[in-house]
Amino acid sequence: MSKIEIDGKMYQANPGEPVVEVIRRNQIEMPMVCYHPQLGPIQTCDTCMVEIDKKLVRACGTAAVEGMKVSTKSNQAVAAQREAFDIILGNHLLYCTVCDNNNGNCTVHNTTKLLAIEHQKHPFKEKPYEKDETNPFYRYDPDQCILCGRCVQACQTVQVNETLSINWEAEHPRVQWDKGSSIGDSSCVSCGHCITVCPCNALQEKSMLGHAGFWTALPARTLDGMIDVVKEIEPELGYGAILKVSEAEAAMRESRVRKTKTVCTYCGVGCSFDIWTKDRHILKVEPEHGPANGISTCIKGKFGWDYVNSKDRLTKPLIREGDRFREASWEDALAVVAGRMSDIKQKHGPNALAFVSSSKCTNEENYLMQKLARAVVGTNNIDNCSRYCQAPATKGLSRTVGYGGDSGSIHDLTLADLIVAIGTNTSESHPVLATRVKIAHKLHGQKLIVADIREHEMAERADLFFRPNPGTDLYWICAISKYLIDHKLANLGFINKWVNGFDEYYRSLEPFTMPVAAEKCGVSIETLTRVARMIADAQRVCILWAMGVTQHSMGADTSTAISNLLLITGNYMRPGTGAYPLRGHNNVQGAGDLGCAPDKLPGYQDVSDAEIRAKFAAAWGVEVTDAKGLDNHEMIDAIEEGKLKSLYLFGEEMSLVDSNANYVQEAFSKLEFMVVQDIFFSHTCQFADVVLPASPSLEKEGTFTNTERRIQRLYQVFEPLEGSRPDWIIIQDIANRMGAKWNYKHPSEIMDEVTRLTPILAGVSYERLEGYKSLQWPVEADGSDQPLLYTKKFPFPDGKARLHPVQAHDPTEPATAEYDLHLNNGRMLEHFHEANMTGRVAGIHSITPDTFVEVSKELAIERGVENGTHVQLQSPYGRVRVRALVTDRVKGKQLYMPMNSTTSPINRLTSSHADPVTHTPAYKELSVKMLVLPEVGESPLPRKNFRFGHRTPQTGVEVERKWKRSDYKMPGGNLVQISINGNRSNGHGPTHSL
Ligand code: SF4
Ligand code: SF4
Ligand code: SF4
Ligand code: FES
Repeated sequence: MSKIEIDGKMYQANPGEPVVEVIRRNQIEMPMVCYHPQLGPIQTCDTCMVEIDKKLVRACGTAAVEGMKVSTKSNQAVAAQREAFDIILGNHLLYCTVCDNNNGNCTVHNTTKLLAIEHQKHPFKEKPYEKDETNPFYRYDPDQCILCGRCVQACQTVQVNETLSINWEAEHPRVQWDKGSSIGDSSCVSCGHCITVCPCNALQEKSMLGHAGFWTALPARTLDGMIDVVKEIEPELGYGAILKVSEAEAAMRESRVRKTKTVCTYCGVGCSFDIWTKDRHILKVEPEHGPANGISTCIKGKFGWDYVNSKDRLTKPLIREGDRFREASWEDALAVVAGRMSDIKQKHGPNALAFVSSSKCTNEENYLMQKLARAVVGTNNIDNCSRYCQAPATKGLSRTVGYGGDSGSIHDLTLADLIVAIGTNTSESHPVLATRVKIAHKLHGQKLIVADIREHEMAERADLFFRPNPGTDLYWICAISKYLIDHKLANLGFINKWVNGFDEYYRSLEPFTMPVAAEKCGVSIETLTRVARMIADAQRVCILWAMGVTQHSMGADTSTAISNLLLITGNYMRPGTGAYPLRGHNNVQGAGDLGCAPDKLPGYQDVSDAEIRAKFAAAWGVEVTDAKGLDNHEMIDAIEEGKLKSLYLFGEEMSLVDSNANYVQEAFSKLEFMVVQDIFFSHTCQFADVVLPASPSLEKEGTFTNTERRIQRLYQVFEPLEGSRPDWIIIQDIANRMGAKWNYKHPSEIMDEVTRLTPILAGVSYERLEGYKSLQWPVEADGSDQPLLYTKKFPFPDGKARLHPVQAHDPTEPATAEYDLHLNNGRMLEHFHEANMTGRVAGIHSITPDTFVEVSKELAIERGVENGTHVQLQSPYGRVRVRALVTDRVKGKQLYMPMNSTTSPINRLTSSHADPVTHTPAYKELSVKMLVLPEVGESPLPRKNFRFGHRTPQTGVEVERKWKRSDYKMPGGNLVQISINGNRSNGHGPTHSL
């Protein structure tokens, strides 16, 4: 730390910190229009001029140095600040009172007030551009754009989508999308970063326009008239008086605009943000303080909320009568559910009932669901959808290092020298987490290896991308592990100190030679050797993996092999190292943590352990059965065998997301009794006897746990839509009607019970999670948590990790003469899973209305397929009809189909093969035949989909190009500017070193 003097007082500064940050942190009032702490200095606005050693410099462009004396208020500094801001006002029409951005946080408004600007020297000049309204979610108004470049910096260096730039050399510079296309035709992925950081109303969410202000919904002509009036009275009154009116209007807004913190309900990254609402209208999502995301979101978290107010929401319980449903009262529906389940229990025993919990719902709701199964019904037949994706990773990690969770934080990924991403389409499935890797890769020299069968965005960016044959990752991972040991590139010091089982493990690697791996994987020995060498050369390696690994018949073993590789190279126990099995759903980690598994009580405590059962029995006042229950996969077989009679599931589209969907649906139709609790009449509801209308995350309180084991609170944004109820209330009502005496009045009381019984969550409380506070388990009773796991030891009795031998295993369902094409499947950025929620977001539907199958260019030529050709895909288990999209993302005889469809779901084609260890379906092992149909329709992806755009990468806003303009003059005259980058210049760009 160094000490610097600002306006006569001493302040502490971090090494290399820009002076502006010290000023901001200490709330010293001074203009700083283009500075945003999460973007760093971009030096475009010149409003932060200060005097240091009698020289005028930008406070954001100057690093704090011990003993430095800074004046923010000298005559020279203030004159320069005012001059710079006056130029900004020439680019922006101040009509705050009728502006939707007049919410007390507009930087332009607030700086006008701070500098007490009454009249502007540079009159506002219109720019020769139209507003761009071609994106479904936001619009750009060039006339309001002050050219601060925050948006460009955010797009290029935080989101790293590389869409935005400013054409500094143009007569009238403006923000450009893909260097000149409309927003709708560009590569913009609607992540919202640019809008979030825009300091004024130039970029604005369309959901704000006409809704946020009291007078902003007026017809355009009336609004223009009001703006003209403001302009006319300004010379006489000055801005001071005008701003007072707008401030009064902003204050009035506070009475009707609510800002509520919530956590995203889509993927496992766990972005948190404030949602601004007016009644039930969502004005905008404002990310700022999220511990996992900061200012970041993706299209779903920023704009994917229409479904909450969809007219399709269920608001009445439904009871089946023959082939139809009748609307029923809650009383009747709950009585039927409790009565039928009690009857079945009495007649067939508790194990004739099963429960499927929801990784979209809260920790508290998941806890109650497993408690209902275990404590009220008396069965361990409880599972959740981590069976479909994450169970193999959890197994691989618990076998080797102890905890089935990411070994570090998302932030730690930025500290790695090398990221290895295997079977993860990270930028689409975990978009905000992917940005952290993209940032480190683009700006900080991090290396990236991608192993995938499909060339997605991360593959395009990788330093080394290779395509192993489908289902062969186990071979190359084991082969390079053996290579590293054989070539003395393993970390023997780490192994000797921290790892057990080396000899047996090494013997198990014998079959995994490089030639064998090269042949199995279809990857050259040279490439595999390069991968091994890059891992050996890196000081810190993180491995990310997802469903491309886990949804295979050897998913648990491949996950184990990954963890083994990290152990033999010493890549655990330090920031920037470790295992990241990326969790798919917002709370899939939590659903597992809270005991929604047939063999684990909350906190991964074994149901087979008598002492642990006794602890739960004492707390619940009932015996807990020791018999391992059925998992999702086994439940379906048990229905077929007539052993399972009743199924109660909530927040889970099981009839479409389980593999071999036709078989699953056939089984559901054989159940004696089925309850489905959801917010929509999902496909699975068709098989139900009772449908219960639930409330989505915005209508309830609770906690979610993200992929980095981070527990965060969500607060209630809306009252439950009339007729629907939060899941925890419904589950409690059913339990009580079945004889329990639960009396939870708030989810916090459920969490209090959880923490008493669950050592890894011992110190969790709602107080400790208040607002944006979060905890990463394990959490000690005193509230200390562990963002980085294994800092002192591994959670085994001797504190050492365990190498776990694995055996060679080939994928099921290989291609045959008849089923000659491999069909891969996965998520899309803009849709979540089968699109039950995102499909109801109008803007998302407009850019991606349907599913499709990607066909390689070479196969398209061979089979006469074009964009839009209808094809029928058929496997031994079913068929679907889709349109083709010809692309070079896939190669040869490999196809890819996203899962965003309830009408042509991929799982009509998948098999019932599963990983033998975890029973996770082998969704990615699938061969099909493709029948080309005569119809050729439109391309399944409209031209306005961002995938057709062309990114325009640059290092940031490139302010040096502005400084080179002949009409640019640094405010304050020809005084020296000192750059944070170590350059000094005369106001025309950096010239020599500091
Ligand atoms: S991708 Fe689009 S929404 Fe995201 S920062 Fe870039 S321009 Fe803005
Ligand atoms: S659109 Fe971009 S350059 Fe224009 S004011 Fe907003 S953030 Fe600044
Ligand atoms: S879907 Fe994932 S990345 Fe996108 S906003 Fe939600 S949590 Fe963040
Ligand atoms: S804050 Fe804009 S140049 Fe420093």
